[in-house]
Amino acid sequence: MVVLGIDIGGSGMKGALVNSLTGEMLTERFRIPTPESRKPQEMAEVVKKIVEHFNHKGPVGCGFPTIIRHGICKSKGNLHKSWVNVNVRELFSNATGLPVTVINDADAAGYATMNYGIGQGKEGLVVMITIGTGLGSGAFFNGELIPNFELGQIPYKKHKKIETWAAASAKENEGLSYKQWGKRFNIFLKYVELLISPDYIILGGGTSKNFDEYKDYITIETPVIPAELRNQAGIVGAAAAALHEAPRD
Ligand code: BGC
Repeated sequence: MVVLGIDIGGSGMKGALVNSLTGEMLTERFRIPTPESRKPQEMAEVVKKIVEHFNHKGPVGCGFPTIIRHGICKSKGNLHKSWVNVNVRELFSNATGLPVTVINDADAAGYATMNYGIGQGKEGLVVMITIGTGLGSGAFFNGELIPNFELGQIPYKKHKKIETWAAASAKENEGLSYKQWGKRFNIFLKYVELLISPDYIILGGGTSKNFDEYKDYITIETPVIPAELRNQAGIVGAAAAALHEAPRD
């Protein structure tokens, strides 16, 4: 089944057609920057443009960068506050005229990694951390998704949430070296280890491909593994979960 997977982030909205059975991406990624307002109507327009770009007529699976419960946005994440309580599934279905499912973006990336990537066969508690505008987390116990883990929301010092200080956006905005940022990220990982004792932590998002640059600053006991699907995982996972995980969207 061909599904259009769309990974919606705070900086970019990226889509590709995906074979939802094999997890194979069938096209190049098509990316449109997230509208600066980060508001519902403007972002729904972009979803429509991505659908039109692929001239797609089938199901659409979206990964969305906030808590999603039964299609409804339950936190603002790094988007505009007017998203809270919006039925994202309905908004995007109406904008595109297609059946749409929506799950959290890190849950989607984790879903792809656990089913088609380095997470395959990993038992116990596995947490996927996506490093981007925010710090996303997707948790899996014996391969089953436990939706909406929000480890990036841990408060840290004067910051309301640790992701403001330790995500890739902080590295970029503050011009941090890999060493400076890697030490911050390690503090975040220490909290993750302390709070939930995972068996494995898998890193995704753009920054995971530069793992060699900061791996020396990671001192936790839990094995930390970079995901090889990298930026594609969000798209593939959103598409695959559209068929297999629909009740959780
Ligand atoms: C949100 C998460 C999301 C993450 C990555 C955070 O700000 O709270 O839901 O997964 O950003 O986009």
